[in-house]
Amino acid sequence: MTTAVYPGSFDPVTSGHLDIIERAAHLFDKVIVAVAPNTQKNPLFTTQERLSLLRKVCESFSNVSVDCFSGLLVNYALAHGARAIVKGLRAVSDFEFELQMAQMNRRLAPEVHTVFMMTTTEHSYLSSSIVKEIAALGGSVKGLVPGVVEDFLIKKLQTEIALGERE
Ligand code: PNS
Repeated sequence: MTTAVYPGSFDPVTSGHLDIIERAAHLFDKVIVAVAPNTQKNPLFTTQERLSLLRKVCESFSNVSVDCFSGLLVNYALAHGARAIVKGLRAVSDFEFELQMAQMNRRLAPEVHTVFMMTTTEHSYLSSSIVKEIAALGGSVKGLVPGVVEDFLIKKLQTEIALGERE
C-alpha cells in the first residue's frame, strides 16, 4: 500500500489543489492532505476552517483523508507510513524553492520521495494568494475555487471588512 502526503497551507484550497488531489488519488492507494498551520504566511483562514473546507471538497474521494501537522513534514510522513510527498508545480518560478525543499527533505529522510505533478494549464496561474486578492477587491473567483470555498471566502471577507470598520 503506497501512501502519499500532499502538504500545504491551503489558505484556501483552490481548484488547482483539488486537481492535484484528484490525480494523486488515482496514483496512490492513500493520500493524506496535510495542512501546515504555522507557515510564515499570515493565513486568512483558521486551521479548523481550512481543514473543514478541505474535508468538504475531498468527501467524494474514498482514499483521501485530511489532517494537519506541525514540525517537520518528513517526520509526519514517516509517522504515517507515507513514502511519497506530492507537490504541484505551476511554473519555473515554483521550481527553485520546491527543488530546495525536496532536496532538504531527501537529506532528512531519504526513504521519502518527493513526487512533482505539473498543474493543468488552466490552473497554472492560480494561487491561494491571488484568489484572496481578487475576491477582496470584488472580482469573481468562480471556477478558481470549489463552490463551497467561494461562498465561505466571500462571507469571511465580509466579516473581516465589518470587523475592520468597527476598529
Ligand atoms: O502551500 P505552501 O505554503 O507552499 O506549503 C509549504 C509547506 C507547508 C509544504 C512547507 O512549508 C513545509 O513543508 N512545512 C513543514 C515544515 C518543514 O518540514 N520544513 C522543512 C522543509 S524542507
